[in-house]
Amino acid sequence: MSKYLVIGGQVIDPANHIDAKLDVLIEDDRIAVTGKSLANKKVAAGAEVIDASGKIVTPGLVDMHVHLRDPGRADEETIESGLHAAARGGFTSIACMPNTDPVTDAASVIEYIKHQARDTGFGNVYPIGAVTQGLAGERLSEMGDLTKAGAVAFSDDGKCVMNAQLMRRALEYSSIWNKPIISHAEEADLARGGQINEGYWSTILGLKGISPAAEEVIVARDIILAKLTGGRLHIAHLSTAGSLELVRKAKEQGINVTCEVTPHHLILTDENLQGYDTNFKVKPPLRTKEDVEALRQGLRDGVIDVIASDHAPHARHEKEMEFDYAPFGLIGLETTFGLILTEIVDKGIISLNEAIAKMSINPSKILEIPKGNIGVGNVADLAIIDTNALLEVDPSKLESRSSNTPYGGWMLKGVVTDIFSAGNPVIRDGVFVKGKKMKSFSGVFI
Ligand code: DOR
Ligand code: ZN
Repeated sequence: MSKYLVIGGQVIDPANHIDAKLDVLIEDDRIAVTGKSLANKKVAAGAEVIDASGKIVTPGLVDMHVHLRDPGRADEETIESGLHAAARGGFTSIACMPNTDPVTDAASVIEYIKHQARDTGFGNVYPIGAVTQGLAGERLSEMGDLTKAGAVAFSDDGKCVMNAQLMRRALEYSSIWNKPIISHAEEADLARGGQINEGYWSTILGLKGISPAAEEVIVARDIILAKLTGGRLHIAHLSTAGSLELVRKAKEQGINVTCEVTPHHLILTDENLQGYDTNFKVKPPLRTKEDVEALRQGLRDGVIDVIASDHAPHARHEKEMEFDYAPFGLIGLETTFGLILTEIVDKGIISLNEAIAKMSINPSKILEIPKGNIGVGNVADLAIIDTNALLEVDPSKLESRSSNTPYGGWMLKGVVTDIFSAGNPVIRDGVFVKGKKMKSFSGVFI
């Protein structure tokens, strides 16, 4: 029997309304006891003690929007390297999007992903099935088969389901299994050829713009379809003030809609494109200061349920092409927590407790997975984070197989020192267990 006692840390477990200095006893794969001064108690006898003084102890974080490139582009990310990056960033559970090669539109692909993830022992991967076969937007996938195999939601992310009738049917069918449809809201004709947000900077830089309207018309359409069908709609990577207002009004009307926002849409703007750095090229595009302000307000008042990375690895030689030819996307698993702590929590936008809820219990509830909760009896997925330590983002030292981050050189607060997945240590004192070392653990303590 394995036994670990985490002492002296600030336990932040929003699922159980806990934010207190407590000890946590892990026995085998479960949280056995949570309480004060457990070291002196009989239950903890024989446990290996982990001193978390000055650190926070949280549920292993949950990222519901990750692109692993496996199967298909193992040079960009594998399931294993994705889980390493996740653990490094505090995440023990990730949901992966189906735009792989082959597409996750068959039970066999779901089986493959689950098998690969299980083999690593580093964390949990929850596959998201395709809404349409081959992401072609023409025929619905076999949602029943995919659900049976383990799909937790459906999405054509990366592409919008442009046929409204298909989207309607998707919302109807997925409600048979109570699975959410995750909408990549981007009207294809309005967005065609667009590179960055349409506005001042697209004009100055001579790049074709993508209007906020491209997102908002689909957000509006999908909300109307969710109302019509009663299906569960989740809007991925919301990026405009207008989208936020649509979701706010839909929620007020009791429509079954949730939404997520990424750190980059909360922190960066289209002004960051000035240097034509393709690491800032992402979909939806970085918007304006006014949009960022609106999204921050949405975080504050709870319209935004989830913070998700939209981790999108791309090969260096592909990102280094001329701006128009470079692919959209940036990696985020290893920087999401630090960015949110440094740029959002420390700047007083939301509390650490609220931020953790949006990265743990909230996405778990949407996906209906038993994660993001370290109450007694739950599976022991745990992150211990030194929220006072600073780490410089070094793109060459990330766990991800790709390095397309726009945050190179940024100093971020929050260093993950320990990770437990189902009671097994994955990272201990900053070092990966099972022989694999974290590449760049060098916390600067402030
Ligand atoms: O920037 C993006 N990259 N947005 C998406 O929706 C898809 C993603 C990818 O798969 O690269
Ligand atoms: Zn995505």
